[in-house]
Amino acid sequence: MTGRNTLTIIDNRTGKQYEIPIEHNAIRAADLKQIKVNDEDPGLLSYDPALTNTATCKSRITFIDGEKGILRYRGYPIEELAEKSNYLETAYLIVKGELPDVKHFAAWRQNITNHTMVHENIKTFIEGFRYDAHPMGILVGTIGAMSTFYPDAKNIHDLESRRLQTRRLIGKIPTIAAWAYRKMRGLPYVYPDNDLSYTGNFMSMLWKMTELKYKPDPVLERALDVLFILHADHEQNCSTNALRSVASSQVDPYSAVAAAVAALYGPLHGGANEAVIRMLMEIGSVSRVPEYIKKFKSGEGRLMGFGHRVYKNYDPRAKIIKKIAYEVFEVTGKNPLIDIALELERIALQDDYFISRKLYPNVDFYSGIIYQAMGFPVTMFPVLFAIPRTAGWMAQWAELVRDPEQKITRPRQIYIGEPERHYIPIEERPEPTQREDAVSEAI
Ligand code: CMC
Repeated sequence: MTGRNTLTIIDNRTGKQYEIPIEHNAIRAADLKQIKVNDEDPGLLSYDPALTNTATCKSRITFIDGEKGILRYRGYPIEELAEKSNYLETAYLIVKGELPDVKHFAAWRQNITNHTMVHENIKTFIEGFRYDAHPMGILVGTIGAMSTFYPDAKNIHDLESRRLQTRRLIGKIPTIAAWAYRKMRGLPYVYPDNDLSYTGNFMSMLWKMTELKYKPDPVLERALDVLFILHADHEQNCSTNALRSVASSQVDPYSAVAAAVAALYGPLHGGANEAVIRMLMEIGSVSRVPEYIKKFKSGEGRLMGFGHRVYKNYDPRAKIIKKIAYEVFEVTGKNPLIDIALELERIALQDDYFISRKLYPNVDFYSGIIYQAMGFPVTMFPVLFAIPRTAGWMAQWAELVRDPEQKITRPRQIYIGEPERHYIPIEERPEPTQREDAVSEAI
């Protein structure tokens, strides 16, 4: 029989047959629960440690076809948005689902710029970090602390409150990010200049010195804006999953975004662009590339900026970024690390190890080279990822809050520990040496 949207499962332990509905090319893991050996059996689980083949939500925000290298926000191809849109307009699209008309864009811009200032206490708060604090650490801490400044954010089921927190977060994150940078450099904080674009204002808060008004270089301003567009959302990645998981407890969005920033900090996620530069600096010259490729293939480190859980083709964002690099170098001068990166890419894309595993450059491979040419220290790279991703996180958060199918995230586990055993008084327990395996396993 063909044509039915169901899956038939035969449990060979019992010979029983089950018919499970298929919807959107997925089965519900909860439907497996009915598959039992006997009445005491809690039912069959699906085991998916890194959620590699599990959909955790239905979403209308971002579409990725990893095999074909396609990325779309709300249906619009990333290439068109990168060429024609600006970050603030793309943020509107991501958050609200449609591109704005002139009137709505003006109102959105106004609403975001109204929220670029932060409470003065935040300044004191940033001051409390050590002189060499990593700006991502500052961002995690400060965004988490913002929940104490806006207790109204707890009203997550109130549409107006959700809108307000979204504007606040998108408006304020460049200010906090720029101040984390100024703190690192020992420079006085620069207040927002709302005459400038979203990106231009960020550049002003980063780099304004004694001049009365900061004038961003238009090429660099546009390059940063396009990089922001490319990073605005990426469906259920590690940080968005962290955000959704934390937000599913119905905590306020500042706490949930702090968790997302923490996830983004890691070298396998948003920290990868920082790791790429460190790797390129360690390689040091084009002639040493083959030696390093050999190391990566033998599992001695990874070729950072290569590979992706979803893209099994060239990451479409990396293609756009590679092009921007040359526009930026026209202004800043060439970053010599690009030659090492190009050689790594050239060799890797011809090497069977990378070809067979479908490892291509991802968004982080070239972004760090641009950021470094613009004068950003490597520790700021993941921060530059977090700023634009805030629009994506807020859209994902609002989608989660409104989704009647969502509940508190609570995965299951497969228990492989000790069976029931009984407490032995401390004096009667065996020598620790006899239990070495158990003890070391626990650390
Ligand atoms: N260099 C060398 N080998 C690699 C790499 C790499 N960058 N990435 C994956 N592999 C190998 C890996 O060793 C494994 O080989 P084998 O099958 O022989 O064990 C195979 O490819 C599959 O790797 P995986 O770790 O199972 O793949 P994953 O989907 O779990 O990991 C990834 C995806 C992005 C974490 C990984 O490719 C990686 O660590 N890349 C480098 C870090 C990086 O660039 N991260 C940025 C991701 S894009 C931006 C973002 O979303 O944050």
